[in-house]
Amino acid sequence: MTAVLLDGKQLAQTMQAEIAAQTAELLRTRGLRPGLAAVLVGEDPASQIYVRNKRRACDKVGIASFLHELPAAVTELDLLALIARLNADPAVHGILVQLPLPPHINEAAVVDALSPFKDVDGFSPHSLGLLAAGRPRFLPCTPHGVLQLLVRNNIPVAGAHVVVIGRSNIVGKPLALILMQKGIDATVTVCHSRSKNLADWTRSADIVVAALGKARFLRADMVRPGAVVVDVGINRLPDGTLVGDVDFEAVRQVASAITPVPGGVGPMTITMLLYNTLQAARSV
Ligand code: GUN
Repeated sequence: MTAVLLDGKQLAQTMQAEIAAQTAELLRTRGLRPGLAAVLVGEDPASQIYVRNKRRACDKVGIASFLHELPAAVTELDLLALIARLNADPAVHGILVQLPLPPHINEAAVVDALSPFKDVDGFSPHSLGLLAAGRPRFLPCTPHGVLQLLVRNNIPVAGAHVVVIGRSNIVGKPLALILMQKGIDATVTVCHSRSKNLADWTRSADIVVAALGKARFLRADMVRPGAVVVDVGINRLPDGTLVGDVDFEAVRQVASAITPVPGGVGPMTITMLLYNTLQAARSV
């Protein structure tokens, strides 16, 4: 068997066209243009690229974006003061604080300071708590992108056994909460670096999601023939090649469907940020 490719680039384009239409509709009917404030602290090149790509995507769908660049030496107090201003700004519906922050700044304090109505990354304890309580507001973008990739490719999720490898607060943990929501109805197992007999778990899965951050970790012998494999990893090898957490060439021979890296989950993350920003503006 050679797996069908789950094309995140294509789906991101389709969904961004839908978001653009809905954004135009909001402007026409309520005179409201969704706005995203992006806060970038310091000069980390990867963060600069992420923020630039997010702002470009905003432009494409008609969402206003406001960039706030602060020097790496900014104090936590000044950053919190900026967050307070953005929380109160009616033109700003979503706030994105690009992580990581410099080590002298308490990331948790900054995330906690975001208005729960503007937390379009879905990282705050408020957003995660609502999700855990079964009444989600903003779903974190990467796990929401994974869900959309599955659902929009007609992969049955209800009743399926999904094994998530990785328990991070921004991917594994919220993905498990999303998949077990009523109406989505997956049976979820979360594995991690301390799990015993990991391959026994992954081989029992209908869907395996690799989100642990280790290059080509998931091998073909860890996947049941016909299973669906989603790769959330982005790892750079010493020679500069970009690879996921899945041994793509081997696993695609046994899986029924698989996401490529790049072009799988990655493009979906930004799309779901746009989606959340539109939702934030709509619920004003
Ligand atoms: N750093 C790496 N990924 C992300 C993301 O999705 N959102 C934010 N705010 N920072 C990040």
